Amino acid sequence: MTISGIILAAGKGTRMKSGLPKPLHKVAGVALVGHAVRIMRIAGVENINVVVSSDLANSDALQSALLPRVTISVQSEQLGTADALNSARSAVEAADSIVVAPADMILVTGEIVRQMITTHEESGAHATVLGALVDDPSGLGRIKLDASAKPVGILEEHEADEELLQSHLINTAWYCFDNNWIWNALDLVEPAETSEVYLPRVIKSAAAAGRVRAVVSDNGEMGQGINDRVQLSRVETIMRQRTNEAHMKNGVTIQDPATTYIDIDVEIGADTRIGAGTHIGTRSTIGSNVLIGPNTQITSSKIGNGATVDGARVINSVVGEGATVGSNSLLRAGSELMPWATVGNLAEIKNSVIGSGSKISHFSYIGDTKIGVNVNVGAGTVTCNYDGKKKHPTVIEDEAFIGSSTMLIAPLTIGKSARTGAGSVVKFDVVKGDTVAGVPAKSIKSK
Ligand code: UD1
Ligand code: CA
Repeated sequence: MTISGIILAAGKGTRMKSGLPKPLHKVAGVALVGHAVRIMRIAGVENINVVVSSDLANSDALQSALLPRVTISVQSEQLGTADALNSARSAVEAADSIVVAPADMILVTGEIVRQMITTHEESGAHATVLGALVDDPSGLGRIKLDASAKPVGILEEHEADEELLQSHLINTAWYCFDNNWIWNALDLVEPAETSEVYLPRVIKSAAAAGRVRAVVSDNGEMGQGINDRVQLSRVETIMRQRTNEAHMKNGVTIQDPATTYIDIDVEIGADTRIGAGTHIGTRSTIGSNVLIGPNTQITSSKIGNGATVDGARVINSVVGEGATVGSNSLLRAGSELMPWATVGNLAEIKNSVIGSGSKISHFSYIGDTKIGVNVNVGAGTVTCNYDGKKKHPTVIEDEAFIGSSTMLIAPLTIGKSARTGAGSVVKFDVVKGDTVAGVPAKSIKSK
């Protein structure tokens, strides 16, 4: 059987009180709509269409929130969830079944969605709904059961009678539908008193034909939605806990999970240890036997096996195998530490390559620079890369020794094994093997 997914993400999200549309709010580094896509993909749903409002349809923010091969439909007016689904009608024509999801129920797991699909397909139902038993059902639609515990319909809180309001069985708004059945059923849905058309109303007609099923999770987390920012933070906490536990089960030591913030889509190798107060941003890759933290921030970066990043910030950079970044140092975009390179304390590195075995052990600024192997950069060295208008490059070749507090006025090349004296201001290229000192620096080799 072929299956397609539709994510409804065109709602106004009024309760977020935000200029940002709700589907783009992030949990653990990924937009809500991106979470829904990931859950579907884990459940085995490849073809996915997202229904959005017209202002979001062409936005870069939406594109970067989605994974590749996700298509988009537009709901031009927010007339309710049934109307939103209708907007994707032509996008899923080829499928036998469709999985429908909201953008704001992201603690549902791929596993239970897979189970819903299996139940749906094996039973030949017109509609299968994913329910959850929750402690606090307030604000959510309730699944109404008959005397034999079969679902007969779904009612929103404002439509439910006293007896149904006592029920803790809520509608997660994840469904599986027969693609040959759903569209006629949608056409027959009458608007509610709010004048919106409610998708859950199709369950009543499927039940009338005896063709409805429910898969119910007794894990209350699955029924935790996001309508406001308090719920957003609750979901964030649960998501992080799940992520931390998955890494720990894979062999990663996390000293204090409560203060460790690992986004989703982060890979971490076994025997890596993460100290308290660490943040690791989405799409980062961390090797095995790495020491991270305490109090470290890694964003969109790759950290090699056996490296150490201790109390530093690493942004869009690469730290090679066995390399070290020390406390209060900052690696900015485009930096690469080759294997066994060292950046010690209070250094800032931007758009630079630091060769294997080279050391920048103490406070320094290195920008737009290429450093060869086994170079020593003394404390307080600055690459003066900016002349007020343009940035210029610096090259420091293998085995060079840069004395403390050297000012390297770029563009500049320091040749292989060359040396600069402490406090020198180097304006002109230094040839291989030469030693320069002074302000401005001159060769002192022959003296
Ligand atoms: C909906 C369900 C409710 C369920 C709850 C679970 C309806 C009528 N009710 O309520 O039974 O318990 O989800 O979270 O469906 N959307 C659109 N276009 C619209 C309206 C909504 O795309 O015109 C999207 C929203 O962006 C959201 C999803 O549909 O992702 C659900 O809409 P929302 O307004 O959050 O519905 P709830 O009131 O939470
Ligand atoms: Ca909702």
